[in-house]
Amino acid sequence: MMAEITRQAPAKLNLGLEVVRRRPDGYHDLVTIFQTISLADTVSLRDDLALALTTNVPAIAGSDNLVLRALHELRQRSSGDRGARIELLKRIPLASGLGGASSDAAAALLAASELWRLPVTPDELSELALLVGSDVPFFLWGGTSLGTGRGERLEALHPLRTGWFVVVSPSLVIPRKTSALYGALTSGDFSAGDRVRQQAGRLRAGEPIDPRLLANAFERPLLAIAPELAALRDQMLAAGAPFVALSGAGPSHYTYIVNERQAQAIARELDQRLGSAATIAVCQPVVELSNIP
Ligand code: C5P
Repeated sequence: MMAEITRQAPAKLNLGLEVVRRRPDGYHDLVTIFQTISLADTVSLRDDLALALTTNVPAIAGSDNLVLRALHELRQRSSGDRGARIELLKRIPLASGLGGASSDAAAALLAASELWRLPVTPDELSELALLVGSDVPFFLWGGTSLGTGRGERLEALHPLRTGWFVVVSPSLVIPRKTSALYGALTSGDFSAGDRVRQQAGRLRAGEPIDPRLLANAFERPLLAIAPELAALRDQMLAAGAPFVALSGAGPSHYTYIVNERQAQAIARELDQRLGSAATIAVCQPVVELSNIP
């Protein structure tokens, strides 16, 4: 019988993201809180001779896909003779600041090490994940974590278990988005990480999120590249969002509401206002992947 393993690959939000400095290796040290949410892709792996990927979004099926890169790395570090037929069902908007590609890669690493029965330790898997991308190690665990360094030094925080995120992903394509935005940061965008650490302190103590601490270093450079996003923030506030925060290097923005009906009402209002200019998702924080509907 041919074995098959299916995993959900949740999106993340950054509950604050401060960039501390540019490093000699070209990356940046940051201080952020990662939070997995119930918007998820699905990754299925079936034992096969070669590595091959099919997906409902053909534009991302090339060899630069992070799932394929991750599994090539894993295969090289094991006996090297295993393959998999990978099916990737995308629901997370592409290049939107929600970490979809990184989450897919982490889900594939976990699924393949199980499928191929590899004796890899969590540390080895994290090291491999970091070769694929700075956000990939976080997705091996998910939940609520403080991320420092490139984002790979992780401390689990008290998981957020309540409330609803309304996530708005503008249909906006910024070429080579992540490196373009890191490259556009100037010294005035850097900060020590105090606000995110203060927020982490709240989450460690099981206290609610303080929206005033959700600063994101990419807000200024993102608006400089895409000035039309100023209107998005206004539309979200006009639709009833109590505050608006940016995830990752954007362009997804979100708000957080305790009450589900209120979150759904804001999402409906935004859907009417924004039409095809954005996709909108109402999500819960995710602690265990089995909670994803
Ligand atoms: O690690 P990843 O491949 O996702 O990073 C993409 C690009 O984003 C890097 O090439 C780098 O320009 C930038 N980056 C950074 N500092 C980080 C993460 C990413 O400068 N901590």
